[in-house]
Amino acid sequence: MYATLWRVRAIPRRIPRYHRCLSTDTHVTVLGQQYKRDPTTNITSAIIDKLERRLHLQQSHPLCILRTLIESHWPSFTHLSNFTPVVTPARNFDDLSFPADHPGRSTTDSYYINKDYMLRTHTSAHEVETFAKGERNWLLTADVYRRDEIDASHYPVFHQVEGASIFSTSPNSIHELEEDNARLGEYLKTSNIVIEDIPHITPSNPRQPTHDPRHAELVAQNLKLNLNSLLLALFGGRAGVGSGEPLRVRWIEAYFPFTTPSYEVEVFWHGKWLEILGCGVVLQSTLDRAKVPDSIGWAFGLGLERIAMILFSIPDIRLFWSQDPRFLSQFTPGNIEPFKPYSKYPPCYKDVSFWLPEQGLHANDFCDLVRDTAGDLVEDVALIDSFTHPKTKRSSQCYRINYRSMDKSLSNEEANAIHERVLAHLKGNFGVEIR
Ligand code: PHE
Repeated sequence: MYATLWRVRAIPRRIPRYHRCLSTDTHVTVLGQQYKRDPTTNITSAIIDKLERRLHLQQSHPLCILRTLIESHWPSFTHLSNFTPVVTPARNFDDLSFPADHPGRSTTDSYYINKDYMLRTHTSAHEVETFAKGERNWLLTADVYRRDEIDASHYPVFHQVEGASIFSTSPNSIHELEEDNARLGEYLKTSNIVIEDIPHITPSNPRQPTHDPRHAELVAQNLKLNLNSLLLALFGGRAGVGSGEPLRVRWIEAYFPFTTPSYEVEVFWHGKWLEILGCGVVLQSTLDRAKVPDSIGWAFGLGLERIAMILFSIPDIRLFWSQDPRFLSQFTPGNIEPFKPYSKYPPCYKDVSFWLPEQGLHANDFCDLVRDTAGDLVEDVALIDSFTHPKTKRSSQCYRINYRSMDKSLSNEEANAIHERVLAHLKGNFGVEIR
């Protein structure tokens, strides 16, 4: 499952941190700034290299084209896209009322520079500071970082657009909100879209106690109307929907620590429901922290890669990071046109079996090690076997790594050389015993 939305994941977390740099370096340099290492540090150089790319700002890059398209849907909103990815855990979590034991805070899920600084895991990390600046209607696009598995749709860096709109609770402003809802509702009624809706507010997806029930209903309705019309603009009438067929959108109750009620939205595309975004009514404590009085509003966060992969027919998430002109020259600002694959080079599978060290080895630690050694030559990592010896109780695992370049044919010798380095790092960093 693509990690766009941040729900609690069911991966066992028994594993200690992966300290990639066992070197004697006492500092790590991130975006030109030196930070002191500490036991929390788990950022890898493969990730540090990505911080300066800013794909969402590269004209003619599909992620930038999609960002611009989304921005054009809300022309009157402030469009922000220049925030540094280095944030404090307070901004990323505490500002948004994440509980102290939320798994997202763990070093197996997030990249820490040290205990005081981390890479944002979602664009919501900037909600409080943006509201505090006085912005009331805004879109914010940025690169976000999460430790994850490796395959064609997972990458530890992806891009999100956060959108928010807050309204004064004065009678005039509430009246305007009603009018806006009526206008948007009328537009959607006459459009080629079928919406599977759910009640805005239910006991399992409640409004906030400080909110006037009518205001909460109107804001949730405004959120849904705005996002339904965005999805219509993005997906309506495109190839995946089938000519003449309506776009199908469905709303699902969700939970986020910083919104209630909360929802997820899915779009029916090529016969499957695809999770597109998470959203909800902004928690009052977020607005209180930003010192915004007498207001109520909504926010959403959507992942750009997943939508861009669909709209531009891009088959592998690594392609977004390609510097190959055969990829980059295919796109032009303002246009959504399907990517023409220039060729798929052959895969090269290598297995690695090892006895687990006593303290275990988290799949994310394994994946980061592979990625840090092999870079974008690794397409996929799959756990294909795990086994516990009945007598000794020792456990072993076998991973299958698919090495494949997007730009050239990888020789078996080249793949072997990379694989040997992966094995050496595995022994050196974790002290595992290769079988
Ligand atoms: N930040 C959430 C995520 O990344 C998405 C979200 C944004 C949900 C805003 C609600 C409101 O999963």
